[in-house]
This record gives sequence, C-alpha cells and structure tokens, in this order.
Amino acid sequence: MILYKNDIEKLRNLIASHTKVFLLLDENTDKYCLHLINDFDFQNAVKIIIPSGEQNKNIETVQYIWTKLVENHADRKSLLINIGGGMVTDIGGFAASCYQRGIDFINIPTSLLGMIDAAVGGKTGIDFQGLKNQIGVFSQPSAVVVLFEFLETLPKRELLSGLAEIIKYGFIVDKYFLDAKLSYPSYPFYPIEPKYIEKAIEVKDEITCQDATEHGRRKILNFGHTIGHALETYLIENHEEIRHGEGVAMGMLSALYLSEKYCGLNHKWTLFYKELYAKTFNRFDLRGIPVDALLEIMRHDKKNEGGDIRFVLVEDIGKPVYDVVVKPEDIIDSINYLIDYLNDANYWGK
Ligand SMILES: NC(=O)c1ccc[n+]([C@@H]2O[C@H](COP(=O)([O-])OP(=O)(O)OC[C@H]3O[C@@H](n4cnc5c(N)ncnc54)[C@H](O)[C@@H]3O)[C@@H](O)[C@H]2O)c1
Repeated sequence: MILYKNDIEKLRNLIASHTKVFLLLDENTDKYCLHLINDFDFQNAVKIIIPSGEQNKNIETVQYIWTKLVENHADRKSLLINIGGGMVTDIGGFAASCYQRGIDFINIPTSLLGMIDAAVGGKTGIDFQGLKNQIGVFSQPSAVVVLFEFLETLPKRELLSGLAEIIKYGFIVDKYFLDAKLSYPSYPFYPIEPKYIEKAIEVKDEITCQDATEHGRRKILNFGHTIGHALETYLIENHEEIRHGEGVAMGMLSALYLSEKYCGLNHKWTLFYKELYAKTFNRFDLRGIPVDALLEIMRHDKKNEGGDIRFVLVEDIGKPVYDVVVKPEDIIDSINYLIDYLNDANYWGK
C-alpha cells in the first residue's frame, strides 16, 4: 500500500492497530526528517537511532536494533517504522521480518532513491562478508508513505543517486523517464518534479507485485546493477566514497555497450547516454581499478546460476532482456569502455 500526504488518516489507523511503535532512524533522518512528521501521533513511540551509511548496513547494526526491541519489550503486535533512505528501510525491514519471526513494518523513505526504489517492493537485507545484500528476505511493508518534503534537505549527491535509478526506468520501461532532471537547488517546491517520482513508484510497485520474489520480470530492475554493484562493493571495501546510484549510473553505460554487442541495441542510445551522463552525473577516475577483482565480486551476484555471470540488457528502449550470460572477456571490455569514457576529453575536457 503506497500512501501519500492525503492518506495520513489511513496511516494513523494502521499505527493505532499495533501495541507498541518503534521508529528506526539514522542520525541524519533523526535531525532533518522526524520533525516534518510530528503530527503522525508518534508521541509514545520508542526511537532507535543507527549510524548512517552503507558501511553500517551490517549484522552488528541489526543486532543493535534487535537489542533495542527486546529491551523495550516489543511483542508480535509491535510495529517498526523505518524513516530513512534505502539503508534504513533495507535494514529495518530485515530486522522486523526476523524479530519474533516477523513483526509489521512501515517504510517512510526520505531519500529520492528510497522513494522510487528501495522502500517499495519488499526486498530487505544487509551486506555480509563484503558482499552487497548477501543476507536478506523478501518481506512486504504494511505501507510505504511518500512525502516529497523530505527531499528539501537531501544533499545533491544523494538526489543524483536517486535520479540514476529513475533514468534506469527510462531504459527498461518507458523513455518518459529519460527526461527527468534535477532542478537544483529547487524545482518550485522540490528538486525534482513529483510526477517522475509518482510514476516511478507506480512502475516499481506494478513490477514487484507481479513478481514478488524475482523469478521473472522483476529481474529487469537490475539493469546497470551487475557492474554497478561490483563497483560499489569494491570502492566501499577500499574506503572510497560511492553512492548506490552512482554505481548504477556507471553500470548502465557498460550495460548499454553489452546491449549493442549481445542484443543489437542501436549505438545512438549509448551516445545519448554518454551525453546525459556527462551533463548529469559525477565523474569517477576508475583507472587502475583491478578488473579481475570486479569480476570476482560479480561471480557472487545473486542473479547468477551455475557460475555464469548474467546481465539485464536492452534490445531497444523499453525492451529489456534478462538472464543474458555474458562472457568474462566481454565484461572486461565493457568495463574498459566505461573507464575510457570517464577519461575521454571530448566529454570531460582535460
Ligand atoms: N530494497 C531494495 O529494493 C533496494 C533498491 C535499491 C537500493 N537499495 C539499497 O538502498 C541503499 C541506498 O539508499 P540511499 O541512497 O537512500 O542511501 P542512504 O539510506 O544511505 O541515504 C543516503 C544519505 O542521505 C541521508 N539522508 C536520507 N534522507 C535524508 C534527508 N531527507 N535529508 C538529509 N539527509 C538524508 C542518510 O542519512 C545518508 O547519509 C543501498 O543500501 C542499496 O543497496 C535497496
């Protein structure tokens, strides 16, 4: 159930049907977001605050959440409300789904990426042994509450990370999304037109309701993620800053390169994306990144079977194909293509 500002009464009723309410926040969403939803009847709720950042999406943080639930006598009719970006909704959803074999949870996404992707669809989990989302369960939130006001305090880099996932919908579903852009510091009220957010949520909800546990069409949502996740994992392991959507934005260029080779995608779309990327996203210097280490990370990707590395590619805009087995040498070529692009003076100057 997706709820917007006008549906707040439904949310109040949902909250009232539980014995005890817990709010999960990170230190930023506690500071910038909680006060915007003061009128949600949270007076008696217990706050649990966790440190922000992907490096904390781990088992230690889950244990901390469970400890707080136990200490405060959470029972099976308790409710956990996750207020934050994808890190908070992923880990909160996971903690709730395992606590006493599962208590209800609600997601209130506060980042763009959380709204249009992470909070919707029921994937929950944590990183483990240096691998992204290695441990987790499919578990649907009782509701996802979308309030655009949160975007006003979201840093630009985080907004861009969310925008990358919106652009992804442009390649796999509808080119409508390729027109989405940020107007920073602010579109009349928010830094992006809400129509793109609403439509993206509709798409994600529709796809994930059809295929909740990713045995078929839901896989298309992983476009750009095979290489994107590997870059994100590798850079975080090596203490470099990268956002989830930044990895996806780079992974999409490699995926377009492979789409030309394996699915006959017209080269004009790769050129189009190179222009869009240079105008929109951050430049990374990936020279010297060990490609074999990236391949090793990709081999652990949950989408693989039997040792092959599988990709989501596109035949054309809005025509994705999933489970495409790509040869390691072609993956290496696609990463080198990305690295060369990020150093191409035609796009980036000297
Ligand atoms: N479950 C899924 O289907 C799914 C899909 C995509 C991504 N993800 C996961 O989502 C995570 C990334 O999510 P994210 O990009 O939202 O990152 P995030 O949750 O780490 O949030 C990014 C940063 O923004 C801060 N922040 C959030 N909202 C804010 C606000 N309104 N004002 C000021 N600061 C704010 C956070 O404290 C954090 O520092 C990754 O772990 C990724 O694996 C999950």
